[in-house]
Amino acid sequence: MENRSIRTIGVLTSGGDAPGMNAAIRAVVRTGAYHGLKVMGIKRGYNGLINGEMEEMNARSVSETLQRGGTCLMTARCLEFKTKEGVARACQIAKVFGLDGLVVVGGDGSFRGARDLSNAGLPTVAMPGTIDNDISCSEYTVGYDTCLNTVKDAVDKIRDTASSHERCSVIEVMGRAAGYIALEAGIACGAEVILVPEKEYNFDEDVLRPILEAKSRGKKHAIIVVAEGIGGVIEMAKEIEAKTGIESRATILGHVQRGGSPTVRDRVTASQMGARCVELLLEGKANRIVCMQKGLITDVDINEGLEMKKEISEELIELAHKLSV
Ligand code: ADP
Ligand code: F6P
Repeated sequence: MENRSIRTIGVLTSGGDAPGMNAAIRAVVRTGAYHGLKVMGIKRGYNGLINGEMEEMNARSVSETLQRGGTCLMTARCLEFKTKEGVARACQIAKVFGLDGLVVVGGDGSFRGARDLSNAGLPTVAMPGTIDNDISCSEYTVGYDTCLNTVKDAVDKIRDTASSHERCSVIEVMGRAAGYIALEAGIACGAEVILVPEKEYNFDEDVLRPILEAKSRGKKHAIIVVAEGIGGVIEMAKEIEAKTGIESRATILGHVQRGGSPTVRDRVTASQMGARCVELLLEGKANRIVCMQKGLITDVDINEGLEMKKEISEELIELAHKLSV
């Protein structure tokens, strides 16, 4: 059932950018156009809402964006928005521009902002756009697959040189406090050791021993993938070299992991989620997170979604361990 009180909606991207955010914006704009809505593109996340930096978008405004990384609306982190006054100002500006609803694409910080806006009277729905895959209520976050593929390409290249020099390579990947990127990319790249913040480790047992065992089994290299939540890869490489005698190098992959043309998975998931956000607003629903559960696109209440816990897969940790022999 369409809610005819929704005539104008806004869309913004917030927090760290992620490949597929453009596909999400495109889906919001075109689903809006399909339903005869006016869609306002808000620049620089919540900053743009507070400062009234927005302009009308139409189906053509999002042409040629599907294949591009980053976000055409730009993104930012906005401290002012975390205050009561900031949220009130954002709502006031939304009123000035006639916004009846808002779609937010971002991570859990952005979702907290979306909840505050809904509570303050601006119907808001959100969808997960972050490379970290750390949103508890969703099995998947837009940008994760592209990031994993970027990490896979980089680690494959590092492996070439590590093998040639018979070295140990210690590689730090992003993920904030979560280890999903490290775990899945580590498995995809056949890492000898994967360190994630969700799992305690013992340096001698879980790092040095597998490296020495790999050498004695005839491996020409050792690849150690470390989540940024553990960090310290430069010191770790030095310690490995000092204690094993195996020449070691550290690489921090950094922001390369956030760029690039989105994969099919990210384009399709972003399109589905973006379209669903608009439909929810049209159905008169607000304060919802559009998410993926059991492979299907669904939605949950933002407060409930933020309270959920996401466990790292013990099965995948075990698999990585078995396959690293
Ligand atoms: P992400 O959305 O990727 O988790 P951040 O945590 O940086 O990224 O959050 C993005 C923006 O969302 C912040 O700059 C801020 O404007 C808003 N935000 C973050 N946390 C909160 C919060 N607790 N309450 C209200 N707004 C928040
Ligand atoms: O949330 C995405 C992310 O790339 C994290 O993996 C990382 O910790 C953080 O953002 C980096 O943020 P910035 O771009 O501010 O350095």
